[in-house]
Amino acid sequence: MTSASPPPPAYDPARGREPAAGTGAAPRPVLTLRGVGKTYPNGKVALRDIELSLAEGEFVFLVGPSGAGKSTLLRLLIRDELPTSGEVIVDGADLARVPRRRVPELRRRIGIVFQDFKLLPARTVRDNVAFALEVTGTPRGRIRPAVDRALAVVGLAAAADQLPTTLSGGEQQRTAIARALVHEPRLIIADEPTGNLDPLISWEIIQLLLRINELGVTVLMATHNAEVVTSLRRRVVALEEGRIVRDEVGGYHRED
Ligand SMILES: Nc1ncnc2c1ncn2[C@@H]1O[C@H](COP(=O)(O)OP(=O)(O)OP(=O)(O)O)[C@@H](O)[C@H]1O
Ligand SMILES: [Mg+2]
Repeated sequence: MTSASPPPPAYDPARGREPAAGTGAAPRPVLTLRGVGKTYPNGKVALRDIELSLAEGEFVFLVGPSGAGKSTLLRLLIRDELPTSGEVIVDGADLARVPRRRVPELRRRIGIVFQDFKLLPARTVRDNVAFALEVTGTPRGRIRPAVDRALAVVGLAAAADQLPTTLSGGEQQRTAIARALVHEPRLIIADEPTGNLDPLISWEIIQLLLRINELGVTVLMATHNAEVVTSLRRRVVALEEGRIVRDEVGGYHRED
């Protein structure tokens, strides 16, 4: 591209944030896991000795067979679960030390997207996205523009007044992504976001997540979709039986 300057982003996740201290300083990782282990109360060891760090702006796939620990790892990042050992640091905060009452605030700094969308069926697309802001007491005057911006990013402005049940699966997932974006998070985690979608629509969702990543949001996405992972040549972290067995750019390499 030879154009003089890129157009301003439609959506600026960094808006209103403090600038990084000092020019040229290494950016603080968006998340760091140090020596993380997770054993569930029933004795099941889901994660062992996980060392992982994501820099600002990365797009990372988390892969591995069913039961490898992908969802467990993502649940640790929103303090849905606490690690049995080690430290989980998100946006500079050691999650084990965050008081319980501050967990909701911490979760707002992360956008979460699930396989099954988790939309409120009786609420419109707009209300589903707005709800994320209403529950946190965002002033009304700020909600409308923020929701409009998020819906524009996912291409759903025209469907704002529809109910989720009248939308395709891809559109429902885009609604969920708008809801994840509306708090302007630094990090989006997605657990099998294309698991319920056909291949073409899956690609649309991946393209959308890539575009959001280009706007500066770090993305960590758990997936079984080998085709997507191999063709995109992004960083791939592979888990097997709770351990990281590979962390490299590109390649799915299922051994089984
Ligand atoms: N709440 C729980 N209590 C006990 N064991 C659990 C719990 N949640 C998950 N596990 C176990 O921990 C291991 C890792 O599960 P996890 O859901 O993290 O895997 P996954 O990689 O996300 O798998 P999938 O690809 O099927 O979604 C599995 O053996 C699972 O049975
Ligand atoms: Mg899972």
